[in-house]
Amino acid sequence: MDLGLKDKVAIITGGASGLGRMTAEYMRRDGVKVVLADLNEDLLSQTAAELRARGGEVETVTLDVRDYDACRAAADHAVDVFGGVDILVNSAGIGGPMQFFADSQPCDWDDLIDINFRGVINCCRAVVDHMIERRSGKIVSLASEAGKANEKRMVLYGATKGGVISFTRGLALEMGRYQVNVNAVCPGVTKTPMTPWVDDQMEEHADRFYPLGRFGRPEDIAPLITFLASDEASWITGQAISVSGGFGRS
Ligand SMILES: NC(=O)c1ccc[n+]([C@@H]2O[C@H](COP(=O)([O-])OP(=O)(O)OC[C@H]3O[C@@H](n4cnc5c(N)ncnc54)[C@H](O)[C@@H]3O)[C@@H](O)[C@H]2O)c1
Repeated sequence: MDLGLKDKVAIITGGASGLGRMTAEYMRRDGVKVVLADLNEDLLSQTAAELRARGGEVETVTLDVRDYDACRAAADHAVDVFGGVDILVNSAGIGGPMQFFADSQPCDWDDLIDINFRGVINCCRAVVDHMIERRSGKIVSLASEAGKANEKRMVLYGATKGGVISFTRGLALEMGRYQVNVNAVCPGVTKTPMTPWVDDQMEEHADRFYPLGRFGRPEDIAPLITFLASDEASWITGQAISVSGGFGRS
């Protein structure tokens, strides 16, 4: 299916690794010009080099999504180099410590809240003026199944993702009149550098929670993100869509 994405411009935060990286690969195949934005400079260069070697038109920006001015600078850079921003994918995120909330301290909460929640807000604010002006845009944020149901030992993580889902719904309400779509994707446990604890032995028991009997792979998630970033999804907004092998059912 041709999604009509050729020559669109996408900023992908967290684009150096995992789901952001696979999304960049899917978008590259569809002819999207990609701005990879990530804190990890080495990984960023490596991922960009791989995408370019496969014919991708790729720019890199080293940024910390906690820094609002850096997010604005990344958006300005995309406009300067590629002439606009059609798509924002918010994939930068961290898993945080696995611990019971009662064992946690305020210092355990700061990065989770500042990267997973405030980082999404920063990046959205950095692009919305531009999208409003153009009366066009697609924003897709990585939330999580944990943002819907939450889980023991990752309560704060789940809460940040619940925040992303609520923020997505509210922003979709405000941005609809400008033809800007705002959606969230909610993966279940997916094998990426964020989930090094997932091993084959665990996967043997995945069917206890995942009817499809396995954990996710980045290529299970990236196609939905890419679709939501296209005009084929232009009547979808304000949604938090599960991609989780049947873990979340609604
Ligand atoms: N892997 C999973 O099981 C899973 C499940 C549900 C949701 N998610 C969400 O999907 C998103 C992507 O996760 P992933 O599995 O690809 O993880 P990952 O660790 O492979 O990639 C995350 C990327 O974000 C970058 N990053 C971290 N902090 C940053 C910051 N402050 N500023 C800029 N970049 C920063 C990292 O350098 C890394 O490249 C995250 O938001 C995560 O919470 C992942």
